[in-house]
Amino acid sequence: MKPHHGLNTHTNLISNENSDHLYNNHLLHRLHDIQQQLHHIPKQSITDLAEELKLPVSQIEAAIDFYAFFHRSARGRFDIMFSNCTSCGDMTMMQYLCDQLSVMPGETRADGAVSISDASCIGMCDQGPALLINGRTITQLSNQRLDLIAEYIQDSTPLEQWPVEWFEVHDNVRKNGLLLSAPFEPGSGLLAAIKQGAESMLASIDDSGLRGRGGAGFSTGMKWKFCREAVGDAHYVVCNADEGEPGTFKDRILLTSHAHSVFEGMTICGYLIGAQKGYLYLRAEYRYMLPVLQAVLTNRQESNLLGTKILAQQDFNFDIEIIIGAGAYICGEESSLIESMEQKRGVPRVRPPFPVTCGYLGQPTVVNNVETLAAAAHIAVHGSDWFNAHGSDKSAGSKILSISGDCLNPGAYEYAFGVSIQQILDDCGAEDVQAIQVSGPSGTLIGPDEFERKLGFEDLATGGSFMIFGKDCDLLKVIQNFAHFFAHESCGFCTPCRVGTTLLRNGLDKICKGCGTQYDVDEMRRMAALVKRRSHCGLGQTAPNPILDALERFPELFNAKLVHSDYEPHFDLDAALEEARQLTKRDDAEAHL
Ligand SMILES: Cc1cc2nc3c(=O)[nH]c(=O)nc-3n(C[C@H](O)[C@H](O)[C@H](O)COP(=O)(O)O)c2cc1C
Ligand code: SF4
Repeated sequence: MKPHHGLNTHTNLISNENSDHLYNNHLLHRLHDIQQQLHHIPKQSITDLAEELKLPVSQIEAAIDFYAFFHRSARGRFDIMFSNCTSCGDMTMMQYLCDQLSVMPGETRADGAVSISDASCIGMCDQGPALLINGRTITQLSNQRLDLIAEYIQDSTPLEQWPVEWFEVHDNVRKNGLLLSAPFEPGSGLLAAIKQGAESMLASIDDSGLRGRGGAGFSTGMKWKFCREAVGDAHYVVCNADEGEPGTFKDRILLTSHAHSVFEGMTICGYLIGAQKGYLYLRAEYRYMLPVLQAVLTNRQESNLLGTKILAQQDFNFDIEIIIGAGAYICGEESSLIESMEQKRGVPRVRPPFPVTCGYLGQPTVVNNVETLAAAAHIAVHGSDWFNAHGSDKSAGSKILSISGDCLNPGAYEYAFGVSIQQILDDCGAEDVQAIQVSGPSGTLIGPDEFERKLGFEDLATGGSFMIFGKDCDLLKVIQNFAHFFAHESCGFCTPCRVGTTLLRNGLDKICKGCGTQYDVDEMRRMAALVKRRSHCGLGQTAPNPILDALERFPELFNAKLVHSDYEPHFDLDAALEEARQLTKRDDAEAHL
């Protein structure tokens, strides 16, 4: 297959850094603005904000400490975050730039010019290595580009004067399917819903067999029906564009190039469930899309596809606002997302009650993935038969995959459900494949003897991430990276996940360092089972998946690293004494354990 790179390219550099000043007064937006202007959130700003927004100081402080994009101590005027994802990250490049600029990873240089740290996957897995600088994305990094970046920073050259092509984000659509190829006329789905009537259209969405594309696969028709029937003062529609699962970037493409269908899906949902308000919760890493998305919203308002008396319907009023997150993977979980919308830390709620009866502000709320809502808009236009004529028995329609890693042509591929893994590998030019992580770190790790398995809720369910690891890849390092990801992203609310993900990470670190024993592997297996069973939400319940899958399918990875003793402590006492040896200028045998 021929790569077609330049297809739909967007630059995320905005001429005036403040021109994308976030337009509603949400706490996270105000904190983003302050962070951008002052490079940290000072105490006085917290007090002022508390007074202005009528929020407790403690709530604002808790939010600042919770979200990765906010800092109480000053970050550099150039604030750089390198993705640490196995697909769009490269930690050797981070170290390279740190060396060039004489700054330690995670720290701010003494002159306040620059800070460099790492961040969880930034959604650029088809065009990495990538970084964020003052919230803007630079992709396709090379050492040569990093040399130039270092020069610009040393010269304090404003970002607007950096080469504009560095900030380009490509769509990289490699295979169009049901959603990506069908042209979408703004308003066509809404007209069909109005013509057909709310109840009948709801039945069509149900008949289509559409299931949630965010991973869990709940029936969309049923979700909308439950919400429509729920009693409340108001109903809400929320589009989940948090897209934080490492390896996933298909929502990025839908929002940049197919935003009308996403917003139309939200508006149709509003019409069917009786909501007047919708929110798009967009991950902060995609903040650069804001002008594009706002332009689409304005266009829809001007075309009477949003606002009051939509398409001349007396009682049909609906509008959409955008809320920008602040770098927390857990906010993709729907109840955390709602907490975050309510200006709090994104800690998952106890469920039930589910959002359909008690969601945003305690009111009935539908939360759907970007792709689900785009699919719903197409179903409204083309009908349920058009949709469920594709796919498999329990998995109607298509799925957009974000393919990254060791293949010739990474990018977005849309397939009817039921496609085999081998077919996908052939299409994207992947050979000598050692393993695939289907649906991101929270999904399933499979090896070559499973490549005839099929994508779909009956077999391999997926939210869209498809990470390919070739024969030369150090798979244990990948698993270690995933363990670090979960330990970092655990919200800390429940003990099994907070402590368990850290212990799993430490155990893997020890094994990867070559200090592990069979005892550590057995302990890790026991801990993984406990974290899975006892955690409060989906993050903890899936965090051990990569370790358990790797232990089952690739035990040799672990065995090859084990030392021969039965037990080796986690804590290396001899290494800890190194500083004392240096201070006393001793390195003789007696100074070692
Ligand atoms: C830790 C965690 C992260 C999640 N991240 C996302 C996400 O980024 N996008 C998404 O649509 N769903 C995500 N989900 C699933 C949502 O909780 C929810 O099921 C989904 O938004 C419902 O939409 P759907 O029915 O259209 O799939 C996540 C779940 C968990 C547990
Ligand atoms: S499982 Fe993890 S992420 Fe979920 S509530 Fe518990 S600590 Fe938070």
